[in-house]
Amino acid sequence: MTEPASVTLAQPDEGLPLLNMPGYRRFPGELHGRHLRVRRFAGPLDHVTRLSRPIRVAHLSDQHVGRVTPLPVQQAAIAAVNAQKPDLVLLTGDYVCHSLDYLDQLESLLCELKAPAFAVLGNHDHWSGAWEVRRTLHRAGVTLLDNAHTTVRIGSDRLQLVGLDDAYTGHADSRKALRGLRPDLPAIGLSHIAEEAPRLWRAGVPLVLSGHTHSGHIAVARLHHLLIGHAAGHRYVHGLYGDRGAGEEGALYVSAGIGASVFGLRVGERARREVTLFDLGVQPGLYPEHHTEQIALPGRPVSLRKQKKREEQVRRKAWTRRSRRNPTDPTSS
Ligand SMILES: [Fe+2]
Repeated sequence: MTEPASVTLAQPDEGLPLLNMPGYRRFPGELHGRHLRVRRFAGPLDHVTRLSRPIRVAHLSDQHVGRVTPLPVQQAAIAAVNAQKPDLVLLTGDYVCHSLDYLDQLESLLCELKAPAFAVLGNHDHWSGAWEVRRTLHRAGVTLLDNAHTTVRIGSDRLQLVGLDDAYTGHADSRKALRGLRPDLPAIGLSHIAEEAPRLWRAGVPLVLSGHTHSGHIAVARLHHLLIGHAAGHRYVHGLYGDRGAGEEGALYVSAGIGASVFGLRVGERARREVTLFDLGVQPGLYPEHHTEQIALPGRPVSLRKQKKREEQVRRKAWTRRSRRNPTDPTSS
């Protein structure tokens, strides 16, 4: 793999200018597409008493490895993660765009991660071929949490990781994921769709990491709230929500992600490509952060009809893939 061009190590919350990137295509009106933010937050209060030392988690989402997002941007994101020397890397889905054409590139990128990585799938992974994406993650040494949880040991501490499969395409099963979760050990959740977070909070998972929204790509004049919140019906658009304190509600972080599947335009500070760090075991308020917990938008529940339509969409795409691969397959006709 070639080195990403001109990436300097970032102090948390500083922009990384991704200069001289071969192949980078500037989109009309783009202001911030060439910058990657590394944002740092303290973890939930719950972890302060449960961990003997801080655990640094790097969160990466919506890489969408493919034609729209230049490879040097992807490499810079991986380099930014490694530069922060996290104990764990957590990935919250959408590794591909609309095809399986870039799985080799995805594999080599993920192989560059220096810390143990854990992942959940997103809607684009199910649309493009979940089985193949799963196999690629496995080959890259990434552990996939498909409605499952696992416990990792870091030094003398143990941390439970709870992963939900993608809710947008109807694959999330929180009951299955939470079965056997130990209340005496600290936990952190992963879900591509942020609206699943309250289910995990109620089971004692105090922090959930998500993606999917890309912060609307255009985050000026509250356009991202209009598009992602009011038009698309999401309660959570970008950043930190809920409560990291000891309240009944847990906390949630929605990443703006790294890549894009259709167009790479990103305008506005909140829409910048981002790597997010969480220092678990560090008390919130100990250092300045980019923003504090925000109030969720009203949102709109997904109707049963719409959900069925989304599930049908996955089946239709799988059928199209099968028939392209083997036109004589009787199950594809
Ligand atoms: Fe995405």
